[in-house]
Amino acid sequence: MKLSKAMQAAINEQIHMELASSYKYLGMSAWCEFAEFPGSAQWLRIQSAEETGHAMRLYKFLADRGARITLEALPAPQQNYKSLLDVFQNALKAEESVSESINKLYELSLKEKAFSTAAQLQWFLTEQVEEEATCRKIVAVLERIKDDVPSLLEYDRFLGSRSEGAEEEEE
Ligand SMILES: [Fe+2]
Ligand SMILES: [Fe+2]
Repeated sequence: MKLSKAMQAAINEQIHMELASSYKYLGMSAWCEFAEFPGSAQWLRIQSAEETGHAMRLYKFLADRGARITLEALPAPQQNYKSLLDVFQNALKAEESVSESINKLYELSLKEKAFSTAAQLQWFLTEQVEEEATCRKIVAVLERIKDDVPSLLEYDRFLGSRSEGAEEEEE
């Protein structure tokens, strides 16, 4: 079964959103390098790579279904943040809108009875629960730390212990 035009367009939009999200996280990472939060910079760089991975899952899905992949220009990421808390509040907000977008995509797949697309999207539904939870937790910790510099630096070091691909098991 070929993908409908509407579904192709919606998946292409999602690829764009994942790539924009990757670029956004890289912008956050760049700010953390500048603000001397090396651990957070590393965490966000890994997250940026994960988002590219999300885009590539959908990219490959379109390619496998013989659908056209259309890439668009990415918006320039935000360059300045007020604090590390501000960074992760932005990340949480972005993840929430990605979840909303995935939900809409899933809804479309059910409406069209596009079951293999729905199956593909199930991984993303689960992933978004995880991503939102992770960001929400970091925001909560940073809210508790406030301006306590030693705690902030210690938490930054903890975020830096995230290693490449540790959270994402490949199929
Ligand atoms: Fe993503
Ligand atoms: Fe994400």
